[in-house]
Amino acid sequence: MQILGIDVGGTGIKAAVVETADGELLSERVRIETPRPATPAAIGKALQSLVKQMEWSGPIGMGFPAAIQHGIARTAANIDKSFIGLPLERFFSEQTGCAVHVANDADVAGMAEMCFGAGRNVRGVVLIITIGTGLGTALFTDGRLLPNTELGHIFLDNGIEAERYAAESVRVAKKLKWKEWGHRFDHYLAAMEGLFWPDLIVLGGGVSKKLEKFAPMITIQTPVVAAGFLNQAGIVGAALYAESKIREET
Ligand code: BGC
Repeated sequence: MQILGIDVGGTGIKAAVVETADGELLSERVRIETPRPATPAAIGKALQSLVKQMEWSGPIGMGFPAAIQHGIARTAANIDKSFIGLPLERFFSEQTGCAVHVANDADVAGMAEMCFGAGRNVRGVVLIITIGTGLGTALFTDGRLLPNTELGHIFLDNGIEAERYAAESVRVAKKLKWKEWGHRFDHYLAAMEGLFWPDLIVLGGGVSKKLEKFAPMITIQTPVVAAGFLNQAGIVGAALYAESKIREET
């Protein structure tokens, strides 16, 4: 199936047409800034023009930076609080004129990695961590997702919420050197390892391209690898998620 995959992030919105049979991008990747304040009306309008610009009228899969329960946003850490309680699928379908299927951004990035990326054929427990404006997580066991794990919001033993300590946005805002940030991120990884004992940790988000810069600071025993799709896992996974919903409906 050909589906427009959209990855809505706290900073940027990225989209491309995806062939779901193999996760290949069939169009150029388009990126626009996430409007600020990131209200439903502003994001809806931005998506409307994005879809128009891409001349798309087919199905859309969307990864969204919130816990999404049956299409409804339940949290809003890096977007406007007025998203909480909003039926996103209905809202974005109305805004774009296309059938939109929405799930958590890290969950869909994880789906892409488990299907075609670094987690392919990996049994046992796999934790995907997307590093960006926030810290997103997706937890799989034998390839099955436990949805909406919001593990970027755990409090570390220093009393600080993990994503306020070790997200990419913190590295940039505090102008941390890779070494300093790497130690912070390792602190977070150690907390995840101690709680879940994963067999593999896959890192997504823009920082996944820079793993060699902070790999020396990683001390945990769990293997840590970059996402096979790097920063595109969210786009590909959004399309895969929509495909699975469309197949369920038909
Ligand atoms: C949100 C998650 C999201 C993550 C990455 C967090 O602040 O609570 O839902 O997956 O950021 O965007």
